[in-house]
Amino acid sequence: MSDGSSAPDSARSRVGSEPAGDDHDQLLDHEYDGIREYDNPLPRWWVWMFAGSFWFSVAYFFQYHLSGNGESVAAAYDAEVADAREQQAKTTLAEPVSEESLSKLMADEALMTDTNALFALRCAPCHGDRGQGVIGPNLTDSAWLHGSRLSDIFVVINEGVLAKGMPAWGKQLSPIEVRKLAAFVGTQRGKAIPGKAPEGIVATAP
Ligand code: HEC
Repeated sequence: MSDGSSAPDSARSRVGSEPAGDDHDQLLDHEYDGIREYDNPLPRWWVWMFAGSFWFSVAYFFQYHLSGNGESVAAAYDAEVADAREQQAKTTLAEPVSEESLSKLMADEALMTDTNALFALRCAPCHGDRGQGVIGPNLTDSAWLHGSRLSDIFVVINEGVLAKGMPAWGKQLSPIEVRKLAAFVGTQRGKAIPGKAPEGIVATAP
């Protein structure tokens, strides 16, 4: 409370070189422990940055949250992670089809989770969402029409059973997708989800 006027004076000398327009250097009429303050406008550059970021955020919100055009950060991330997984699995996917290479894919949980979506899209209409069977046979029981080995399953998916209504997926999907699907059916094998009654020969060892 000692010297109310010295603080504004020294502040004035610091900004002394700036032109003092009408709205500059207006001292507000309150004082706290000798501290007084100016009612100066914010610097122009600051105001522009503020306005700029405000309008940017409005546009951003519209593009990414309302319009549905922009891919959200989360969706872009998920897509990249799925890509990376595929990349990682590529070495295995490039190996010739065998029990061994297909069971490696089966063991890749993340890859199988991705493949679930492909199964839901392409296979679920005939085999049920979990492979329990609709028009097509139950893929989760232990009875198989065309063999229970992963390589048998691969062949059926790739070449189909056209006479019985099972499409040849090798013609519509990439070789990599067919392998992933064969491995995915492998993961459902033997889960015995209630659905279509067993057809074919009961496999002793899956
Ligand atoms: C249009 C219906 C239809 C679609 C779609 C379909 N399937 Fe089939 N699938 C069948 C039928 C019908 C059979 C039985 C063939 C037979 O009787 O020989 C079958 C058989 C199979 C078998 C052999 C089962 C066994 O007991 O040996 C496998 C494995 C299989 N499908 C996997 C798939 C996969 C994976 C997809 C998705 C890419 C798929 N199917 C999509 C109709 C379909």
